[in-house]
Amino acid sequence: MALSRTDRFGPVIAFLVSAFAMPVGLHAAAAEVADEQPTFTKDIAPIFREKCEACHRAGYIAPMSLQTYAEVRPWARSIKQRVETRQMPPWHIDKAVGIQAFKNDRSLTDAEIDTVVRWVDSGAPQGNLADMPPPAVFADDDVWNYADVFGGPPDLIIHSTPYTMPALAQDHWWKPEVPTGLTEDRWIRGIEIRPSTVPGRRITHHALARLQQEEADAALGAASDIGPGLLMEWAVGKQGEMMRPNSGKLIKADSSIVWDIHYHAVGEQITDTVELGLYLYPVGEVPKHRQVLSAFTTFEGGREALSILPNQMTVTEAFHVMKQNGRIENFQPHLHLRGRGMQMEAILPDGGRQVLSLVSKFDFNWHNNYVYADDAAPLLPKGTVLAFKAWYDNTAGLRGNPDPNQWVGWGDRTVDEMGHAWVNVTYLDDADFEAAVAERKSGSERTDSEE
Ligand code: HEC
Repeated sequence: MALSRTDRFGPVIAFLVSAFAMPVGLHAAAAEVADEQPTFTKDIAPIFREKCEACHRAGYIAPMSLQTYAEVRPWARSIKQRVETRQMPPWHIDKAVGIQAFKNDRSLTDAEIDTVVRWVDSGAPQGNLADMPPPAVFADDDVWNYADVFGGPPDLIIHSTPYTMPALAQDHWWKPEVPTGLTEDRWIRGIEIRPSTVPGRRITHHALARLQQEEADAALGAASDIGPGLLMEWAVGKQGEMMRPNSGKLIKADSSIVWDIHYHAVGEQITDTVELGLYLYPVGEVPKHRQVLSAFTTFEGGREALSILPNQMTVTEAFHVMKQNGRIENFQPHLHLRGRGMQMEAILPDGGRQVLSLVSKFDFNWHNNYVYADDAAPLLPKGTVLAFKAWYDNTAGLRGNPDPNQWVGWGDRTVDEMGHAWVNVTYLDDADFEAAVAERKSGSERTDSEE
């Protein structure tokens, strides 16, 4: 079965969909010689250039810049602690379980972690200035991420209605409806969502763009909570979704976008809008495969059934049957403050089981989207059951638990809970599915013979 091969592909490779701006033209120079004492200029700066600076530079989401020795040195201890525990860079997929080949992996390798730890333990020396790598080059912020790939900015940009978040307030949810203005059906090949200004990035926790349209063909693939209406979910650290060749999402004439934006106050009044950029297939071009973003619930029985008891752990499970063959493109767990982990497993029609992905140290600050590499995205036949499990820690032991004595149910606020995984599924007919499985098989045989 195609699945059993997936774990053999090493950490990846293609940055077609990168979860955040990657420096251009840099290759990590991991420490080659283990007994040589690592220095900042020679060993650490190349790692930080590639894996930290996208966020840790002036004006970006991280609290401090990590670009120069002077900036890094005061944080050495904290860096060691965050890096050793894999809290930084934020990438919370379990390394020992399931698929490990992703398009947007920003985690450190074991060797890189070892280098950072040894560097801090040996007094965090600066080293020879001549060893310092050239500065990283980042894509311009005003440029859309996929403009290069698609040869220009998005074909359609839709703004949410502006919203002013006061300096001090509880979290706000902003749900304006904005018409797309489309007068004919079109197919989407790429989507980006972003707060439209840098200050806006500070207040925008996450944003959903729901597509409101008449759908005759509602019987899409797998059972899910939200169905074909959702276009994309954006959260800190995520920038876009690109369809594979000949795949797309359908957006119809007279449709509108219903925004659901979660803002939080940062001590300063900020006004912003969120923008949705859509790259479209040319008029009249219909991709063969339809991709659908589903929110697969991780508990059964509807929203009222989610019940997190005080002062204990709660585990929930839910099962979704795939009515068509499909390729699972990504895994993005969604839980709130008490969420600790989520697992996505495939139970195949022949009874075989395969854990696809596990996040066992979920961190609410990071709604990471784990996008499977082309060679690794699971191909699942119709009849497969997607089995989800989520767990919640409502004890005093959970750092940041607002109140372990509260019962918690489903709700929008972060002190309420949710439980679902955002998963993009590309549905395939039998012939295409078999072809994809055969291609995957011959790919892994090639890899075998090369070994
Ligand atoms: C995707 C963005 C992102 C990347 C990549 C990233 N960080 Fe961070 N980092 C943050 C944000 C945001 C915070 C503050 C919130 C938090 O602690 O989670 C932070 C916090 C930290 C802290 C704690 C600061 C404190 O206040 O104590 C350290 C240390 C750190 N990062 C080191 C690193 C290192 C080293 C790397 C690369 C190996 C890295 N980070 C990669 C965004 C990022």
